[in-house]
Amino acid sequence: MKYSNYSTVIIGSGIAGLYAALKIEQQVNLPDGLLLITKSKLGESNSRYAQGGMVGVMKENKSDSTASHISDTIKAGAGLSEFNTVKYISEHSDAVIKDLLKFGVEFDRDENNNLCFTKEAAHSVRRILHSGGDATGKMIEQALCKKVRENENIEVYEETDAVELLVSSDRCKGVLIFNDETQEYETIYSPAIILATGGIGQLYKYTTNPAGATGDGLALAYNAGAVMQDLEFVQFHPTALAIDCGENRFLISEAVRGEGAKLCDGDGVEFMSKYDERKELAPRDIVTRAIFSEMKKNNVDNVYLNATCIDAKKLAKRFPNISQKCMENGIDIAHDFIPVAPAAHYYMGGIKTNLKGETSIEGLYAIGEAASTGLHGGNRLASNSLLECVVCAYSAAEYLKSIELKTPKQIDESIKSLLDKYTDEDVILEELDIPSLKKELQEIMWSYAGIFRDEKSLLTALNKINKLKSEFPRNYKCLSREEYEFKNMLLASLLIVNSALMRKESRGAHCRTDYPDTKEECIHSCITKKEGVPDFVK
Ligand code: FAD
Ligand code: SIN
Repeated sequence: MKYSNYSTVIIGSGIAGLYAALKIEQQVNLPDGLLLITKSKLGESNSRYAQGGMVGVMKENKSDSTASHISDTIKAGAGLSEFNTVKYISEHSDAVIKDLLKFGVEFDRDENNNLCFTKEAAHSVRRILHSGGDATGKMIEQALCKKVRENENIEVYEETDAVELLVSSDRCKGVLIFNDETQEYETIYSPAIILATGGIGQLYKYTTNPAGATGDGLALAYNAGAVMQDLEFVQFHPTALAIDCGENRFLISEAVRGEGAKLCDGDGVEFMSKYDERKELAPRDIVTRAIFSEMKKNNVDNVYLNATCIDAKKLAKRFPNISQKCMENGIDIAHDFIPVAPAAHYYMGGIKTNLKGETSIEGLYAIGEAASTGLHGGNRLASNSLLECVVCAYSAAEYLKSIELKTPKQIDESIKSLLDKYTDEDVILEELDIPSLKKELQEIMWSYAGIFRDEKSLLTALNKINKLKSEFPRNYKCLSREEYEFKNMLLASLLIVNSALMRKESRGAHCRTDYPDTKEECIHSCITKKEGVPDFVK
């Protein structure tokens, strides 16, 4: 096996990982260099598919203020957002966006070259910046990828999976990686490992997330002993295009509702006023539950989004990708209703971190969707994720600047015996039908641990997942990336279901039909491997 040393290793090349790489390279003393590893091609990530935009609380937007953004974020967060985190991220919005502009990111502007701001659900003012109309993620990602590729101080490994974090004496000392093309393992020692591995959407049958969102960071950090927070909180987006095409469902951005589109049944009858006075622009969890309830009541697979009230030229200019994707499926959004249904979209839970990106394990950091900073609470406000990715990448880089990054040189015995489990040639593994196992898991999570849950459904999920686990005889070494991903998906699912069982109330995106009320006391759930079951802490 090959061994290497790096001063910092970033795992993941979404917007959080890419921006962190650029900021760390700019600011931090890196005697052993900087490595970015990503399990697919650079740029393939959830980030690339972000549509609606990125919150920009910009000084030049006189109708907005950080106080207003903080208030909207906290209201949406159902009592679980952390005030100091929200404040820090909001207050850094202007600076990071100006920095992104310097890295070549372009946001849409009006004819006077002023930034355009749009509105999405539960925002009280227009404050969302977008790029390429509805291709915000792709535009940011492309600009950052270009800078990373041009930067000779950032080494990039593509098609490479992080499969195990190497921890001893309560410190993370490195990471074991696996190249899916060459089937080779490499051990990397580093004093700073940053997980920027994104979300978990692929655990569910219906999701807006691409194939790579398999909860790897969650599983890696949990196995390493890190504290995990609020794992029961999965956000379901109200409006994914209700047409199956591949591993995920195409998103119909909330910004379409922000521009005036209405939700209705097949006869064009609008229904949101029955559920919330803010109607289509109520927080995401409320709109999702309203749509799902309508679908159940009428025994149909989708409702409709009516965007025909928006000027056709505006629709085409503002939402070019959505217009095109719908047209490819025979839907002209200027004239036809769009069939939509909820889908798993974002993970509020994750690896507990502070604002420096520090986890509970020394030397291990997490940023972006993989982390739980306390910004989103029980329900993320639209377009706050991209902002969090960038601000937290920035603050992690600031923090690393202040510490000495000395690579741990010695190989200790506990790490050596762990590595042996991956390289043991005597372990013969038989091929497994991963696509069908994966499909089964996604069905279980959707049916029993989805938008509405109760004790009976969650216990059913637990039994079924454990049964599936017994059909997947892998503890350490796997044969392929698909297998490593499935191993992580099983663990992430068990963690989510266990946490959902433990939270006996409904709050934000966690809706227990057997405990419909929200408790007065507002607590985070925390779980670690050592303790085994979720523990609720203030
Ligand atoms: P990601 O962008 O998901 O990147 C994770 C990276 O980690 C990937 O490169 C992946 O390959 C890599 N990786 C994972 N596991 C491993 C491993 N084991 N080894 C090596 N590499 C690994 N948010 C907004 O704020 N505004 C929006 O408009 C918006 N629209 C969205 C639309 C869609 C369709 C989706 C799916 C999400 C949207 N979101 C939006 C959410 C937002 O895009 C994500 O939360 C955010 O981009 C996450 O960025 P990230 O860098 O943390 O992770
Ligand atoms: C969307 O465009 O609806 C997604 C925005 C988000 O997830 O923040």
